[in-house]
Amino acid sequence: MTPQVLIVGAGGREHALARRLAESPSRPRLWAAPGNPGLLRLASRAPVDPADHPALAAWCREAAIDLVVVGPEDPLIAGLADVLRDAGLAVFGPGARGARLEGDKEHAKLVMAAAGVPTAGYAACGDLAEALARLESAALPVVVKACGAAQGKGVAVCADRAAARAHLELCFTADAFGDAGRRVLLEECLTGPELSILAVTDGRDYALLCPSRDHKRLGEGDTGPNTGGMGVVASAGLLTPGLGRAVGEGVVAPVLAELRRRGVDYRGVLYVGLMLTPDGPRVLEFNCRFGDPETQAVLPLLRVDLLELLLAAARGDLGAWLATLPEPGPGAPRDWPGAALTDWERAAAVVVAASHGYPGPIRRGDAITLPPDRERAWVVQAGTAERDGRLVTAGGRVLGVVGEGRDLREALAAAYGLLADVRFDGLVCRRDIGGGLPPSRSEP
Ligand code: AMP
Ligand code: GLY
Repeated sequence: MTPQVLIVGAGGREHALARRLAESPSRPRLWAAPGNPGLLRLASRAPVDPADHPALAAWCREAAIDLVVVGPEDPLIAGLADVLRDAGLAVFGPGARGARLEGDKEHAKLVMAAAGVPTAGYAACGDLAEALARLESAALPVVVKACGAAQGKGVAVCADRAAARAHLELCFTADAFGDAGRRVLLEECLTGPELSILAVTDGRDYALLCPSRDHKRLGEGDTGPNTGGMGVVASAGLLTPGLGRAVGEGVVAPVLAELRRRGVDYRGVLYVGLMLTPDGPRVLEFNCRFGDPETQAVLPLLRVDLLELLLAAARGDLGAWLATLPEPGPGAPRDWPGAALTDWERAAAVVVAASHGYPGPIRRGDAITLPPDRERAWVVQAGTAERDGRLVTAGGRVLGVVGEGRDLREALAAAYGLLADVRFDGLVCRRDIGGGLPPSRSEP
């Protein structure tokens, strides 16, 4: 029987998931709610509004959907996975109580404290006067974070108190982030390279995918405003000694144990945002879903069937499925939980092409010209739309160009080579994705 898989979301991450699921040997039929033009070349549009959770659950039952993969955080935080599971569906993505790890940064800090996970010191404040009083004695620089989910815009790394005050006023007085900014964290500023590690889990067992590095700032040389991510590299070259154990035994396992202790059944991705500080890895944030654009770079490096992996996690038999995998391949780090999932002898990169004005107010409707995909480079669509039969820009991050190769040098050359043939007015991209990284592996 053909497996029926629904992907919820409309971004580059969801297009990348569909691309990889379409390669599954069990040849699934893919559905998208709502999807984007790229994704809808691989999937049929589900005739239902994904924001109407009961209607989506009813449609999934009717269509005999075998697996729902929820891409973005907002529906997870709002409890979509709970509604779908209550209707008897297999869902990849945590319920609202699990997703709170992303939706409430103070809650994430409390879970980390209970689980003994290393993270930055902080103070939580519920009003401006309290926050300003705390700020007086805070060391500089200081990081000010709206506790709720604010599309990456709620965090400011502040060099001085004036900048911190300005961000606090955005949260409390200007109400720039709505409910997300009603509580704020003042956080110790950490330094070091950042790394994203995606743990696929069924709440008990877990496997870590290839580490990746996002480039969050808009400008080259890590300058300018923070964005959702302008490009990513994924490679064994990002590994540092002991990283797999530090993240597995030091972060993922204790957090899952703490969640179980609280009665939370977490099935999906636990995204660990890390800073590799001189004192070891520290958790900057958790997300409750696949990273975007990390996923676009990490999935091409899988050497297993993504559909089987997601189904095993959704059904709660990840441990049994992992036990069926062959030994990790050549070059695999010894202490990496789930090392057998990744081909460590390849690397991938994604370079994002964004709209004029991003991450501020953007221009929409510019016509896009896309080159055909190549064997080692392809386009993943995000903020695109079809108007009068033409592909046009329709969002901040319009698309990502993915390249793969035997090392990052090859992967980046493949991505930039294809990007040269992508055209739309106002295209903004970084030319320095992967700059300064070791091109091949440093021994873990
Ligand atoms: P978050 O959404 O919490 O990951 O924060 C967004 C970005 O802000 C991170 O990717 C970091 O670049 C930066 N950031 C967050 N927390 C800290 C911290 N404690 N110290 C330094 N930079 C941070
Ligand atoms: N690329 C960062 C994120 O997915 O949150």
